[in-house]
Amino acid sequence: MATEYELPETMRALVIDETGAPEVLHLADRPLPRQISDEVLIKVVAAGLNPIDAKTRSGKGVSAAIESYPAILGNDFSGVVVRAAFEASPLQPGDAVYGMGRVPRTGGSFAEYVSVSSMSVAHKPARLSHAEAAAVPVAALTAWGMVKLAGAAPGQRLLVHAGSGGVGHFAVQFARVLGAHVTATGSTRNLDFLRGIGADEVVDYTTTRFEDVAHDLDSVIDLIGNVHDNTGTRSLAALRPGGLLVNAPTGSWPTMAADAAAAGRRATGFKVSPDARALDEISALLDAGTVRVHVDAVYELEDGAAAHRLIEQGHTRGKIVLRVAG
Ligand SMILES: NC(=O)c1ccc[n+]([C@@H]2O[C@H](COP(=O)([O-])OP(=O)(O)OC[C@H]3O[C@@H](n4cnc5c(N)ncnc54)[C@H](OP(=O)(O)O)[C@@H]3O)[C@@H](O)[C@H]2O)c1
Repeated sequence: MATEYELPETMRALVIDETGAPEVLHLADRPLPRQISDEVLIKVVAAGLNPIDAKTRSGKGVSAAIESYPAILGNDFSGVVVRAAFEASPLQPGDAVYGMGRVPRTGGSFAEYVSVSSMSVAHKPARLSHAEAAAVPVAALTAWGMVKLAGAAPGQRLLVHAGSGGVGHFAVQFARVLGAHVTATGSTRNLDFLRGIGADEVVDYTTTRFEDVAHDLDSVIDLIGNVHDNTGTRSLAALRPGGLLVNAPTGSWPTMAADAAAAGRRATGFKVSPDARALDEISALLDAGTVRVHVDAVYELEDGAAAHRLIEQGHTRGKIVLRVAG
């Protein structure tokens, strides 16, 4: 027998009335999101923060897709289904679930309720708390897609830039699960963390030029691009002829494809999409303890501005999460 939930008319949400500095974030009462077709209505317990949320808030990222203000940012969430979809779906009221909202548009997860397509929602890994689960979807789905595109497999040698970050710490672990030999870059304080999540070799980018020590790689998972010290362009020199670079900060290096072709290497961007089936596979790895999620900090929803300031510094280890309820 499915649980019946009484729903309020309004909800607490972290909103912006304009783009700008983190101070534009503030709490407001908003109507519950309108649920349509295959969407499930979810009571959010925790919401994960991603660099795209801060970029969008600042007027970059996907801010052009904001249709009206006040706007609720945020994609990642973990919570409980309070209303099933109008169409048949295995997701029923009372189910603990996690997932990500619409991309590239804003998903609206920095709020007490979110309405999301069933295709984007999976059952929460039982082993994880809601705060841990909310840290997973965008980063892990990005890492999953990138390591598969990079061809991670036994005998393959792969480099992960920013292996200690949200996407990177999943990419290192997934590539190892798929059998690849993994080198990861990070700063001095993160080298032990990188070894702890399974990196075979680590390179301290503050003391060593990675291309001096990493050669003839089959692939590079590039989570830095040319945002810092021409990391993307320099990565081409670490690849074997014909090797593949997979880049995520896709706007940082407009000449990427031409530069790679000129160097006899290959390069492609990657954009994450919601994918409940892939999340199910990731859930199995998390529940088995084969892969771990690292939560660096948890902030209350009303302290969202402080969380945005922290992620903007670019030195998060693992993930930052907002506590929405409980
Ligand atoms: N295209 C897509 O679909 C997609 C999806 C998700 C993310 N992204 C993008 O991918 C990028 C990474 O995302 P994320 O969530 O993983 O970011 P993040 O968690 O903020 O990354 C922070 C990590 O980067 C490391 N780092 C910073 N500068 C570095 C450098 N020069 N070399 C090596 N490591 C460095 C930091 O380690 P230290 O403290 O040791 O420096 C820190 O652990 C962002 O630009 C994000 O917007 C794109």
